[in-house]
Amino acid sequence: MCGIVGFTGRREASPVLLEGLRRLEYRGYDSAGLITGTGNELHLRKKAGRLAELTKAVAAHPAPGCYGISHTRWATHGGATDRNAHPHLDGTNTIAVVHNGVIENFAPLKHQLRSAGVQFRSDTDTEVLAHLIGHYYVGDLVAAVRQALTLVKGTYGIAVMSRAEPGLIVGARLGSPLVLGVGDGGTFLASDANALAGYADKVVYLSDRQLCVLNGDDWELRAQDLSPVTASVHDIAHFLADGDAEKGEFPHFMLKEIYEQPETLANAMRGRLDDADSTAHFGGLNLSPQQLRQIDRVILTACGTSYHAGLVGEYLFEELARMPVEVEYASEFRYRNPPMDRGTVVLAVTQSGETADTLAALRESKRMGHTTLAICNTVGSTIAREADGGVYLHAGPEIGVASTKAFTSQVAVMTMLAVYFGRTRHLSSIQGQRIIEELRALPDVVRRTLGCHDHVKRVAAKYADARNVLYLGRQYLYPAALEGALKLKEISYIHAEGYPAAEMKHGPIALVDESTPSVFLVPRGNVFDKVMSNMQEIKARGGPVIAIASEGDAEVAAVADDVIPIPDVPEYLQPIVVAIPLQLLAYEIALLCGCDVDKPRNLAKSVTVE
Ligand code: M6R
Repeated sequence: MCGIVGFTGRREASPVLLEGLRRLEYRGYDSAGLITGTGNELHLRKKAGRLAELTKAVAAHPAPGCYGISHTRWATHGGATDRNAHPHLDGTNTIAVVHNGVIENFAPLKHQLRSAGVQFRSDTDTEVLAHLIGHYYVGDLVAAVRQALTLVKGTYGIAVMSRAEPGLIVGARLGSPLVLGVGDGGTFLASDANALAGYADKVVYLSDRQLCVLNGDDWELRAQDLSPVTASVHDIAHFLADGDAEKGEFPHFMLKEIYEQPETLANAMRGRLDDADSTAHFGGLNLSPQQLRQIDRVILTACGTSYHAGLVGEYLFEELARMPVEVEYASEFRYRNPPMDRGTVVLAVTQSGETADTLAALRESKRMGHTTLAICNTVGSTIAREADGGVYLHAGPEIGVASTKAFTSQVAVMTMLAVYFGRTRHLSSIQGQRIIEELRALPDVVRRTLGCHDHVKRVAAKYADARNVLYLGRQYLYPAALEGALKLKEISYIHAEGYPAAEMKHGPIALVDESTPSVFLVPRGNVFDKVMSNMQEIKARGGPVIAIASEGDAEVAAVADDVIPIPDVPEYLQPIVVAIPLQLLAYEIALLCGCDVDKPRNLAKSVTVE
């Protein structure tokens, strides 16, 4: 949440900052601001609203100077207004701060500062930090930042500058990501390496409680006590391809990412399917076959869409590996104290690798001595670095706030993991080989499934004015129903509920009427007849039914009002195939509702606050 970009070097800072913010706007988009420096003068521009407002303001009143920091905000404390936008200044307008995260003890700190005569200009927690740093500042910004941070409780990724030390930028992190970039004409700071593609050649990820000091081409990493730290420097080209963060021919990132899925699924499987041993293998799990064999329980923990992928994982691990699995919301799991024995492995599922709750759940499990693994998309992210082992999705950056390609890749990776675990247990080589072949065919099946788009458009036009939509499925398709409902509600603001189809009669069927469509996930499989009965129950109460069903299924067509056909696949792959029409349906309905699909209200990509 929120994006930070900083630059110091031998070129004008504001174009670099604005371009970096453009790439990070999906991180938070309710206001934006920047500050640059010339000599000992600072140039502050900040605006509520989308980045375009700030860009206009800078065009009208340029912010000169070769160093600066900037921010795109997702409001936590104080509404989305000009004055609450970052950067924030201390009382003497010497120190400027941009901040991601939450200062939890801002209220007592603000009270103390107010008692000492400080006047506040915003409602933010961040401004407290600017005044604290200002309070300790006697010409040494690094020392003042360090001292101020000792008083702070909460999370932060910050970039700070002082008009008394031109060219200098200090960064620090605790719980909110920060990356330092080295490259084209200077040094950079960002909350996400995406902002630096094309500018920096090398990046250094800060760990919690580290600080970094940038000045022109010089940079250094420091520990909390300011002692020097040897940095591990990574090649940015290693994980960011040109054009990854661009929409190309697509009107929205979400649509681009939906259409990328044949390719992203192929990438998730590339080099991991092992015909010789009829299994899958992974480079980064860091588990010996003996350790693998000792695992007797898996806890999957995640948030949002990744949680839904985890729920599919539960079915996969149970069926293919015969292993006990529990799936926990990371936000709940982090504060619970469930009994876990030595053979329990905790597997965090996350696209961004930065979700605060998932990270906290992972850390708590580690602290208790459990082996932790991650299924993660973002290379170099905090969770990827802190887990004992893991599997990358290799899906490329996901920019649309609504997660799409990450979901299908997460499920594909969990299928491979279940095969891998299963092959050390009961799964025969014939079964293993069959699954490998079915997985290998999947990208083409998904490509074919995308052919339902025109069909989906027609269905969307018919139901776009619904105010409530139900999503119903059973077994593997129950989590898929939850995910379909989440997609619709987050980008179209239409109320949607996912339910196990047979649970309807225990209460929610009371919601059904002529204006409440139900999306039934009903491709052929073991529970097909059962789901058909559930569908009849809805029809009997006058509820319109949209069925996502196997191509050419006349039985479904005879009952449903509308049918979206999908190719047949084995049941354990159905959540992936069904996800395509569900994503497209949410997308098309949101467009018809006039919503900003890539930047839905109240949301931002990557939830790095608790
Ligand atoms: O980056 P993560 O996978 O950890 O993110 C988890 C959720 O915040 C995320 O899936 C969110 O629910 C998306 N907006 C769903 O589309």
